[in-house]
Amino acid sequence: MCISRESRNGVKAETNKRKPAGKRRLGPLSTDRHRLYEYSVQSPSFNIEFFDRVYKRAWGRPARSLKEDFCGTALLATEWVRTRPGNVAVAVDTDAKTLAWARANNLVSLSPAERSRIKLVRADVREIRAPKVEIIAAFNFSYFGFKTRRELLGYFLNARRSLKPGGLLILDMFGGWEAQMEVTDKTRNPGFTYVWEQTKFDPISHSAGFHIHFDFHGGGGIRKAFRYDWRMWTIPEVRELLADAGFSSIDVYWEGIDPETGEGNGVFKRVTKAENCPGWIAMLVATRGLPARRLRRPR
Ligand SMILES: C[S@@+](CC[C@H](N)C(=O)[O-])C[C@H]1O[C@@H](n2cnc3c(N)ncnc32)[C@H](O)[C@@H]1O
Repeated sequence: MCISRESRNGVKAETNKRKPAGKRRLGPLSTDRHRLYEYSVQSPSFNIEFFDRVYKRAWGRPARSLKEDFCGTALLATEWVRTRPGNVAVAVDTDAKTLAWARANNLVSLSPAERSRIKLVRADVREIRAPKVEIIAAFNFSYFGFKTRRELLGYFLNARRSLKPGGLLILDMFGGWEAQMEVTDKTRNPGFTYVWEQTKFDPISHSAGFHIHFDFHGGGGIRKAFRYDWRMWTIPEVRELLADAGFSSIDVYWEGIDPETGEGNGVFKRVTKAENCPGWIAMLVATRGLPARRLRRPR
């Protein structure tokens, strides 16, 4: 999908803004930075529909087990266990305070049976290999925090080993020349404005800095609620590293355009070529192949 500078409301907001699942829990105005973040950029139901589509396409049934890497508030893992009674989830993050927030604010909304099927783990995503799962999701570009080939390959090698045979690693990506510009984009929401600010881009290292701010419509807000120091990886670089890590197929899904609005239509299709555009969002789906002697559907 092409996102024009004029039409987009911030790359991160654009990723998932169609179905902000946090909306129903936000209330009149939350001033909690995690809730405002969830509302602004996350849409677990949209993600889960995509997982079901790509996993069913490969294996004829939806996956049951999910690992949410870089889980933050574990909103996706929480919605995953709520979606189907057989679903299980592991959610991994290094930040103890964020995981405590996840427990107190998201896991608390689950029934005891649902809660028994989700596990939060405080660890580096490169360290956790068990239990093996059918899908690993790493969303909102968090792996861009790995700035060298060695670091990113280390993550992909560990992710591959953490998947069951036939399992999928699903990543999102953004790019385009506007992702290399120091710009600020704003999205107006009920009660607050989400502000995505790109603070720097270095053409030599492809290092880029970003801030998220929340401006409250009644006055005040939260400046630098979240900060990111990332490397802007390109699709060919990431696909090559996934191949080096042993993934057997690495597909790119590109978002279609709604002809009426000129914005993304929320439908990601597998492509091998795409239109060059100022800003884009894509999903990468990498498969851990089955051993040759076991070329049958995984159980
Ligand atoms: C951009 S937030 C992503 C939150 C959520 N996944 C989403 O889709 O919005 C990045 C999260 O990754 C965590 N993180 C960063 N490096 C990590 C690592 N090496 N291992 C595990 N978690 C990490 C941070 O603590 C933070 O909560």
